[in-house]
Amino acid sequence: MEIKINDKPKYSNVDFDNLSFGEIFTDHMLVCDFINGNWDNLRIIPYQNISIDPSTSALHYGQAIFEGMKAYKDDNDKVWLFRPKDNFNRFNKSCERMKIPEISEDYFMNGLKKLVSLDSNWVKPGQGNSLYIRPFVFASQATVQASPSKEYKFIIICSPAKSYYNESKFNVLIAEDYSRAANGGVGYAKAAGNYGGSFYPTSIAQNKGYQQVIWTDSSEHKYIEEAGTMNVFFRIENKLITAPTNDRILDGITRKSVIQIAKDIGIDIEVRPFTVDELVIAAKNKTLKEVFGAGTAVVILPITGFGYKNHDYNIESVKDSYAEKIKSIITNIQYNNSEDLYGWRVGI
Ligand SMILES: Cc1ncc(COP(=O)(O)O)c(C=O)c1O
Repeated sequence: MEIKINDKPKYSNVDFDNLSFGEIFTDHMLVCDFINGNWDNLRIIPYQNISIDPSTSALHYGQAIFEGMKAYKDDNDKVWLFRPKDNFNRFNKSCERMKIPEISEDYFMNGLKKLVSLDSNWVKPGQGNSLYIRPFVFASQATVQASPSKEYKFIIICSPAKSYYNESKFNVLIAEDYSRAANGGVGYAKAAGNYGGSFYPTSIAQNKGYQQVIWTDSSEHKYIEEAGTMNVFFRIENKLITAPTNDRILDGITRKSVIQIAKDIGIDIEVRPFTVDELVIAAKNKTLKEVFGAGTAVVILPITGFGYKNHDYNIESVKDSYAEKIKSIITNIQYNNSEDLYGWRVGI
């Protein structure tokens, strides 16, 4: 792999105490080109603009996918990734669905590790601090033919992050009309357009005073699927419930980790379809104890209320919250503060 070191690093000009998410990027980026039927020319170069033709296929047809993952620094300044192999596998699953040629594990993992180690000074220690890593691929052939591109670019960029979505109030609006994904569609892939398509319904919810949308199934709007860009869990009395994954739901790595940890600590967990009606009944009869989102960005985010059919339901905070307990176990693994039973932590 060719590596060109940035001789004008901007690291020392960054105010790490006042980062807004995803606006500042580290000094290097990984790039690889798919041309003539092969991924080739894996390289790390100084972070820079890329020049593309106005006809570039991805701009017209959205043949583009991405991943989101994080690196964490422990108190001895060692940097760790969390379950990166799962991100790699999901990356290729998304590629397959979007007819993008898959990347080899060697290119993905070794490129990723090299890039993060080069920019490891951008990862700050301390809970809540991390380096957000964004691997992505887009169709780069200069053509407006509506067919799979013959050329692609695989790029990894990194952005220093503090924990965000840390408002104490996080209310969600249950989708009654709009859908994020449909049967047979691309919801399970991290396809760029899934996110673009969610901005409009999310902005309607935000204009009504909610922070995010709870997506329901596209056929009947009866089953609860995801909360914004998080998987979602419900605690009814002492039972934790989350929807099974299907072709509309992203198979979240945090979700899988939550399910495993919940089992480990003896929480009764059910992975089964969960309806909006069950949620409303549980809220009304006070058996609903917790609702939380799970995703890389926040690990776990308690949801404080939801709106449905012009009615708002409040979720009181509980003592001995499952959300807090599970979040602390996962973050302790991520920051190398506890034993890692499952080999989820991968050192750089
Ligand atoms: C739609 C959606 N659901 C769930 C998640 C959570 O997945 P993970 O835990 O792998 O970050 C994400 C991504 O971050 C997402 O985009």
